[in-house]
Amino acid sequence: MTLERIDLLLTGIGRLVTPPGSVPRYGGEMRSVSEIEHAAIAIRGDRIALFGPQGDVLTQLNGAEIVETLDAGGRMVTPGLVDPHTHLVHGGSREHELSLKRSGVPYLDILAQGGGILSTVKATRAASEQELYDKARKSLDIMLLNGVTTVEAKSGYGLTLEDELKQLRVAKRLHEEHPVDVVPTFMGAHAVPPEYKGRPDEFVELLVNEMLPEVARKGLAEFCDVFCEQGVFTAPQTRRILQQGKRYGLIPKIHADEIETLGGAELAGEIGAISAEHLLAASDEGLRMLAVNGVIPVLLPGTSFNLGLKQHARAREMIDTHQLPVALSTDYNPGSCPTESIQLIMMLASLNLRMVPEEIITACTINASAAIGRAHDIGSIEAGKRADLTLFDVPNIAYLPYHFGINHTFGVIKNGKVTVWDRQIKGRKNAGER
Ligand code: NIG
Ligand code: FE
Repeated sequence: MTLERIDLLLTGIGRLVTPPGSVPRYGGEMRSVSEIEHAAIAIRGDRIALFGPQGDVLTQLNGAEIVETLDAGGRMVTPGLVDPHTHLVHGGSREHELSLKRSGVPYLDILAQGGGILSTVKATRAASEQELYDKARKSLDIMLLNGVTTVEAKSGYGLTLEDELKQLRVAKRLHEEHPVDVVPTFMGAHAVPPEYKGRPDEFVELLVNEMLPEVARKGLAEFCDVFCEQGVFTAPQTRRILQQGKRYGLIPKIHADEIETLGGAELAGEIGAISAEHLLAASDEGLRMLAVNGVIPVLLPGTSFNLGLKQHARAREMIDTHQLPVALSTDYNPGSCPTESIQLIMMLASLNLRMVPEEIITACTINASAAIGRAHDIGSIEAGKRADLTLFDVPNIAYLPYHFGINHTFGVIKNGKVTVWDRQIKGRKNAGER
């Protein structure tokens, strides 16, 4: 890239932290991140042109035209965070189920009684497209203010062709209109809808023969996900749906072995899924299958925390024994994990998954980007990659999981543009966090 003209020069970076490279970081590699003190980053258009110690960058830019220079004020800068597993677009909320949940009624029992996911299905079907958009947009603002620049968003609260398309159209519109990139996943197999109660195989046929082809024809999804769980979809049903998805060009993902051991991890390996999510109850063989087949485990410690589960995903074994490239995500949804805060997830990854800060930052950047097939473009600070950067008001990465429950993000640069500064979304009146 020619250095004759730089659109934005970010100077005064107290500490620049990034995983190196443009591929996922496996096992022990997750601990090694590049750290540069007193750094600068030069941006041209929407791409990183150059980064390094500030003195070196300025020397290399000698004679270049610099359109704008911005002082990071000694703050820490990382790649823009990536949240690779969310249920962003949905109607309503489920606080009415809180006391039931806290009195010990299990998540799957609430679902079996027609609540849980099915309660959100009712609310999502009843909501207009504009209502869904307005609600999801607020969440996306919060994510952006927390330092997230790319988000995956699943459908799965419509469960009819028209209602699934409605959710996916909202995700598309958000991607086009909001600064945060939204990556769409079709998850029509999130639950068996009430009208198919007791006839799950018939619903699977509807998914396979009508919904999937239409979603793919309209180009509204990149990935296909299934909730493979006791009382939801079996492993053979999951296989059938994901194989059909593959035929239509949708890359498989699986909500695998979240609560019961159903062979979801093994299936993710067998079918060549890009990622397997949750994995609390995954077997040793399942983890081995993930490793052998290059599947990325996406761990969601906010969900196990909020469901009050004693069990957590075996992150240490995944990283240390199986050398897996672990990613982290919020799983933002109205039931099992109603939070947009990736920084809370970092804290929980430290507390309950025993991941170290370097692993956590790797899991929220390059490995998260790999879980949605974008490691070549985002997730690390590299010349030529997209200029998505997050500025934190912290001295180092350990400070993020350490000082918890607040938002440390000061600024966000998205596609080379200053999008959040001084904790405000630029160009928005009264944008601040709710
Ligand atoms: O990832 N487990 C299934 N799906 C979501 C929860 C959805 C909901 O409860 O609304 C999850 O936890
Ligand atoms: Fe989920």
